[in-house]
Amino acid sequence: MELIDNKIKLRPFTDSDSKRLAELCNNKKIWNNLRDYIPFPYTETNAIDFIKYCQTENPQLTFAIEINGEFAGSIGLVRQPDVYKLTAEIGYWLGEPFWGMGIATKAVRLIVEYGFNNLGLVRIYTGVFDFNKASQRVLEKSGFKLECIFEKSVFKNDKICDEYRYGLINKNGTQHAI
Ligand SMILES: CC(C)(COP(=O)(O)OP(=O)(O)OC[C@H]1O[C@@H](n2cnc3c(N)ncnc32)[C@H](O)[C@@H]1OP(=O)(O)O)[C@@H](O)C(=O)NCCC(=O)NCCS
Repeated sequence: MELIDNKIKLRPFTDSDSKRLAELCNNKKIWNNLRDYIPFPYTETNAIDFIKYCQTENPQLTFAIEINGEFAGSIGLVRQPDVYKLTAEIGYWLGEPFWGMGIATKAVRLIVEYGFNNLGLVRIYTGVFDFNKASQRVLEKSGFKLECIFEKSVFKNDKICDEYRYGLINKNGTQHAI
């Protein structure tokens, strides 16, 4: 499955992405904004394992972000279990050379459309560390609502911080709940 908006394409990961994936993701400025289960330093072995995992997904939930044919980052949805099965958490990162050009906002819009229209999701949400204003802005520009702040819920880099929780509802997909 490929999702395209002008020069930005969301596409499945391929084995040949591993080198560039490792180069771009091995960046503390990225890792500082992500959960600790994501390795740092990020090696090519980590990249190969991640790509292998992505290739088992059916339906596809994790995409490579490509700009003008160049690998630039990753974006994905994580479907939630049990009664939350129509909800997914969104996560994304972009290589530093590509920051500040509106790419993440376009990628979020593409995957949200896919989640709502192709996967039948009713709700997409995420949590952002309080200091990550760029990601908060990406979500706001994409129509997400700041739903609440989980005070002091995050311990990252030996510091406690708040998590800003954002959600977006599929207005056409709520018939399941009625
Ligand atoms: C967050 C991230 C995905 C943003 O990608 P991006 O393509 O640069 O985002 P966009 O260009 O679409 O939008 C960024 C917005 O944040 C704004 N912004 C950037 N830094 C900011 C700051 N320090 N304070 C306030 N706003 C800021 C930009 O001005 C822009 O808003 P605007 O269009 O209204 O001017 C990218 O920086 C990244 O990968 N960061 C590390 C990983 C990460 O944080 N992942 C998300 C975890 S929740």
